[in-house]
Amino acid sequence: MNYAKITGWGKCIPPAKLSNDDLSTVVDTNDEWIKTRTGISERRISHVSTAELATVAAQQALDCAGINGDEIDLVLLATCSPSTLVANTASLVQKNLNATGAAACDVNAACSGFLYALQNATAQINAGMIKKAVIIGAERMTWYVNWSKRDSAVLFGDGAGAVVIEASEEKSGLLASKTGCDTSNRDILHITNFGTDINKYDQPVGPSDLLFEGREVFKRAVKGMAEACDDVLEQANLALDDINVLIPHQANLRIIQAIQQKLSVSDDKVMVNIQNYGNTSAATIPIAICEAVEQGLIQSNSKIMSAAFGAGLTWAASYIQWSDRITPIKISNATLPDCDKTGLELINQAVLACKN
Ligand code: ACO
Repeated sequence: MNYAKITGWGKCIPPAKLSNDDLSTVVDTNDEWIKTRTGISERRISHVSTAELATVAAQQALDCAGINGDEIDLVLLATCSPSTLVANTASLVQKNLNATGAAACDVNAACSGFLYALQNATAQINAGMIKKAVIIGAERMTWYVNWSKRDSAVLFGDGAGAVVIEASEEKSGLLASKTGCDTSNRDILHITNFGTDINKYDQPVGPSDLLFEGREVFKRAVKGMAEACDDVLEQANLALDDINVLIPHQANLRIIQAIQQKLSVSDDKVMVNIQNYGNTSAATIPIAICEAVEQGLIQSNSKIMSAAFGAGLTWAASYIQWSDRITPIKISNATLPDCDKTGLELINQAVLACKN
């Protein structure tokens, strides 16, 4: 059996912040409402493309693993906010990484995309088809935001995270996984004005919009993620007490707390960083993995449960066995170009367009 050991991890956090107070100058909202209902204090606005965010996160993960791009067999990019659809965004990341021997593919399962991609790449390593892969979650969710709507404008942010997995005889990496999709509720979460269903010759395509039935998504997210975790525990023949770290998708602090309660996991085992970034969709889990290592929550040989839920409604849960290494082989200097604008300045043009 070839296991798919995680040997590298990296993230890319764009520098420009948009605080709740900044947002209250754009829509009718306030810091207290956003914090108490969502747990979010600020989010990041990217000054670069999704491909650039993905490239920096992936390069950091490659450096952490101590390998070069030309050793990689597969670049899988989980995103629902690609830089370009044709050619796919993963192909530009492959080029940027100099991973010229790698297959390159985008995966869209919305917020569950990273766990879907990790499952897919791990299965290819398990089957002996490939030896090394980089799996990235990268999003510019704020590109979709309608800045005249307070319900969605407060929730989302931009960012990227990545892991490198390599074939290994050591029993480590993604060891059990469950993915699925509840299509009966496909309509309760979606993005408008995007895709070939639009008759672009009939009427001009206006700004896109993130539409969702918040309470329905909330309930289904908690139920779906908790059930998927139970399924994965059973597959792995583990009890919840065996799990050292829970890394949930970061969509709302109250959703995280509800899953935590359902699974009876104590606070000290749960990774939470939504306060800093909001919901970065497919990027929340790889960013959270990186920060859990940086903060010492993930330690040598930690047993990790991760769960996600997103538009579709897709869902996924993964049991990951970390290896003994928790420090990078090489400190990466991959970074974004400087940004001389604030978050508010970066969204200014979109705000004006959405209000007209
Ligand atoms: N600022 C101030 N007030 C607001 C805001 C805001 N940004 N947004 C809504 N309100 C108001 C509403 O107008 C409503 O006012 P009313 O009582 O006078 O009618 C009141 O606050 C309560 O609104 P609800 O929508 O009922 O608030 P709720 O507690 O359900 O929280 C939220 C809304 C945060 C969206 C929550 O339902 C949620 O997190 N849902 C799931 C997350 C989600 O759908 N995310 C989309 C991505 S999907 C994913 O990542 C899995």
